[in-house]
Amino acid sequence: MEGLIIRDMWWSDIPQVLKIERVSFSTPWDEMAFLNEIYNPSSIVKVSVYENEIVGYICASSVIDEGHILNIAVNPDFRRRGIASAMLEKVIGELKKRGCKSIYLEVRASNTNAIRFYENFGFASVGIRRNYYTVPKEDAVVMMLALLS
Ligand SMILES: CC(C)(COP(=O)(O)OP(=O)(O)OC[C@H]1O[C@@H](n2cnc3c(N)ncnc32)[C@H](O)[C@@H]1OP(=O)(O)O)[C@@H](O)C(=O)NCCC(=O)NCCS
Repeated sequence: MEGLIIRDMWWSDIPQVLKIERVSFSTPWDEMAFLNEIYNPSSIVKVSVYENEIVGYICASSVIDEGHILNIAVNPDFRRRGIASAMLEKVIGELKKRGCKSIYLEVRASNTNAIRFYENFGFASVGIRRNYYTVPKEDAVVMMLALLS
């Protein structure tokens, strides 16, 4: 998307991030959850900015050679414009640079839109975590992307 800037999340971004988080998830992260990620050296926390407005964000982390996508969302008014793809591509690049050989994530089994989104990047379902989510109670599909060196 022309004019889209992807940069590290700052603590002052959190109020705008929370607005997107709350319309995107039934059990949204709170301010402390985002602060913990921002100040965690093993985390990668980015926002997408368009015309000075935060329109999306992504949180990921790495442990040794394994990456994990922890959270990703885009303002509903800005979806289907490639913003999440641009953020995920950037994070995959950073995880590769850190030496990650695989990336894992959990997604609600009913979230077929997100599952399709991840499949576009080559993520494949590798398992189910029973009753992983609440409100409503639901299984998580575990997806994995193997990174080529
Ligand atoms: C999932 C989400 C992050 C995608 O963000 P986005 O910026 O709209 O995604 P993109 O525009 O980069 O989509 C890329 C591709 O993914 C697939 N995709 C994304 N959203 C889709 C949808 N609602 N329906 C079907 N396919 C979809 C499409 O193949 C799309 O390509 P296309 O638009 O050319 O058809 C966004 O819908 C969102 O914030 N959802 C709520 C939060 C959420 O579910 N996060 C994931 C938790 S695991």
